[in-house]
Amino acid sequence: MSDWSALIRDVPDFPKPGIMFRDITPVLADPAAFAAAVAAMAAPWRATPPDAVAGIESRGFILGAALALELRCGFVPVRKPGKLPGRTLSQGYRLEYGSDRLEVHVDAVPAGARVLVVDDVLATGGTLRAATELLRRQGAQVIGADVLVELVPLGGRDRWDDAAPLRAALLM
Ligand code: PRP
Ligand code: MG
Repeated sequence: MSDWSALIRDVPDFPKPGIMFRDITPVLADPAAFAAAVAAMAAPWRATPPDAVAGIESRGFILGAALALELRCGFVPVRKPGKLPGRTLSQGYRLEYGSDRLEVHVDAVPAGARVLVVDDVLATGGTLRAATELLRRQGAQVIGADVLVELVPLGGRDRWDDAAPLRAALLM
């Protein structure tokens, strides 16, 4: 299996001084590494796959769509404000650098649908927390969360603090 994790590139001082950005684009650019990374994310969910994967804009779209195909389930976009055409629910949250808002269609999934929330990176955990609360308000049953990379020192797992499991393919 490809050592996809070796392709993650550290970019210091991006997007602000003092922040070490973990750039996954070299993983995506390498077909074997991309496939191995998605397979690693899929592994914990293969036995009982979700009804849908919800990917968080924007980097969560890339991995979430690939994971939905891998797990043979649907894909739901959790988007930044003003992008979805239908009626939406909205949830604000804080980021490592700033604040933002996420939206989902009010009819994104049927009530009780088993949804897996997906993103590329878990940092402080605010994004994943907000997306999960939003999907629950929409009526989804969030069965867990799945990220490619967990930045352990930033403590996002403490903020997750949820009965549903949080899986990370790589701890950094
Ligand atoms: C990044 C990353 C995660 C989030 C993690 O997204 O892709 O979504 O931050 O941070 P947190 O755990 O502290 O909330 P960002 O909002 O920078 O936007 P992008 O995905 O559109 O690049
Ligand atoms: Mg993101």
